[in-house]
Amino acid sequence: MSRRWRREGLSIGLVPTMGALHAGHLSLVERACQENDRVVVSIFVNPIQFGPGEDFERYPRDAERDAALLAKAGVDAIYRPTVAAMYPPGSSTRIHVAAVTEPLEGQARPGHFDGVATVVAKLFTAVEPDRAYFGQKDAQQVAVVKRMARDLDFQVEIRVCPTVREPDGVARSSRNAYLNVEERKAAASLSSALRLAAGTYAGGERHPQRLREILRERLEAEPLAQVEYAELVDPETFTAPGSLAVLAVRIGRTRLIDNHDLAMEFPG
Ligand code: PAF
Repeated sequence: MSRRWRREGLSIGLVPTMGALHAGHLSLVERACQENDRVVVSIFVNPIQFGPGEDFERYPRDAERDAALLAKAGVDAIYRPTVAAMYPPGSSTRIHVAAVTEPLEGQARPGHFDGVATVVAKLFTAVEPDRAYFGQKDAQQVAVVKRMARDLDFQVEIRVCPTVREPDGVARSSRNAYLNVEERKAAASLSSALRLAAGTYAGGERHPQRLREILRERLEAEPLAQVEYAELVDPETFTAPGSLAVLAVRIGRTRLIDNHDLAMEFPG
């Protein structure tokens, strides 16, 4: 289908997702529809990016609802491969992006980014998009995908769209569905910490240690929050220090991540 579109001179946008679509995904779809003649949304809960004991089995799935939302949004095709089609018996190649995958999410979720890089490369090969759309919410994933696309000469522009937030600042995520009422309230501590640090940065504070403390103090004031990391990193390498504040926090059994470039005003 995409080859035919290409022969007809039409541009193609790809929005890779794992389904359970929410306003964050729909903002990517909307942008893709504005910028391309044809839009493909892939829906694939990719088993190889989940570690043992993670939530692959219970990850929310709702194919009918997703299809209805995408039809309404005007996408041209949904690509929903099976696990057997993506990884047939004997499949044994993995893409490993070095350096940027090592800290933070890479430490917490060994093998996760190999799974992401491998599936995204396969989606790029299958769809051959001109542009592919990712959310800033997964900032380290964005850096990994950009590095991989550059290193493997994929002729695709990586477009990054802003995090979509609830009115109380909580970043939209399929995993928010796991939170009970109390945990959902506690989840606002992440965006609140980022907002506080951005305000302090705007006031002239540049010392990474002080900014880290501000993030941690706000998070630790929330009794249900267990901080995994609160760091300031460079948004491309994730190894050098920089102005991107990145958080991973457990609220009950749910692990949430969020980030914000402190050099920019916090939205809302
Ligand atoms: O961000 C996601 O939903 C996934 O990591 C992605 C990019 C669709 C790859 O499985």
